[in-house]
Amino acid sequence: MTNLIEIKGVTHAFQTPNGPLPVLDDLNMEVPEGELCAVVGPSGCGKSTLTRLIAGLLKPDAGEVWLHGEQVREPRNTVGMAFQNPVLLEWRTILQNVILPLEIVAPKMPKAEKEARALELLALVGLEGFEDKRPSALSGGMRQRASLCRAIVHKPDVLIMDEPFGALDAFTREDLWQTMHALREKEPFTSVLITHDLRESVFLGDQVIVLSGRPATRQFILDVAFPGPRVIDGLFATECVDMLHTLRDQIRIAQGRTTEEEK
Ligand SMILES: Nc1ncnc2c1ncn2[C@@H]1O[C@H](COP(=O)(O)OP(=O)(O)OP(=O)(O)O)[C@@H](O)[C@H]1O
Ligand SMILES: [Mg+2]
Repeated sequence: MTNLIEIKGVTHAFQTPNGPLPVLDDLNMEVPEGELCAVVGPSGCGKSTLTRLIAGLLKPDAGEVWLHGEQVREPRNTVGMAFQNPVLLEWRTILQNVILPLEIVAPKMPKAEKEARALELLALVGLEGFEDKRPSALSGGMRQRASLCRAIVHKPDVLIMDEPFGALDAFTREDLWQTMHALREKEPFTSVLITHDLRESVFLGDQVIVLSGRPATRQFILDVAFPGPRVIDGLFATECVDMLHTLRDQIRIAQGRTTEEEK
């Protein structure tokens, strides 16, 4: 399988009034085409910085980011992004919000075609009938569904998500996980998902990368062998519980606090 995303020895520091703040240190990771890579790590270790580097919004001090066999040197429209707070425009309807990237990337596409594409996605995430509503008329979970549709409406090669479900309650979050699987079945994009939720990383990820504390480097990779179909009940299977324990131990190590010390 070809690697759609390749991060090779990426190192980055921010310049601050107190001197350079090293955030990423010789980070390497690969995401094969069509796979979802979940990234977890201590708070403030550099996860959002990593998403900005992949999107070409930041240039690494050293190392390279490659997407689809091309080195990333600037932002590109083959990358879709989704964040914790869906930034939907209140003066546009849900449908108009979702077609926004098409207006930029494919201005010549006939309006009816743009709308048909958006409506197809909205139906897939369970928002049929809400296309003419304004964002404020929707719940947080529904807004996040709409924002996922907007992130992939122009069929980007890569979808980068930075804690997209972080602000949702636990049950809504589980619904959204299932929506993500439905979307990926229909739209085979490659994805990087930043999350603090280990269950989410195992439920959605093909691999989970644990970053060390800042400056972050790759501390651990888990290849997710989910037992059976990806349904919520599967998270309670022994195989999943074991994976969650492993990840939890790794996060503790990343935080500089070992399980031994806790005993
Ligand atoms: N533009 C910037 N200038 C200076 N420092 C920055 C900048 N952006 C981020 N930082 C710092 O870099 C470090 C990493 O930030 P980043 O947002 O990537 O962490 P994170 O892992 O996403 O954190 P969280 O888990 O809280 O979302 C933090 O210490 C942050 O304060
Ligand atoms: Mg962050």
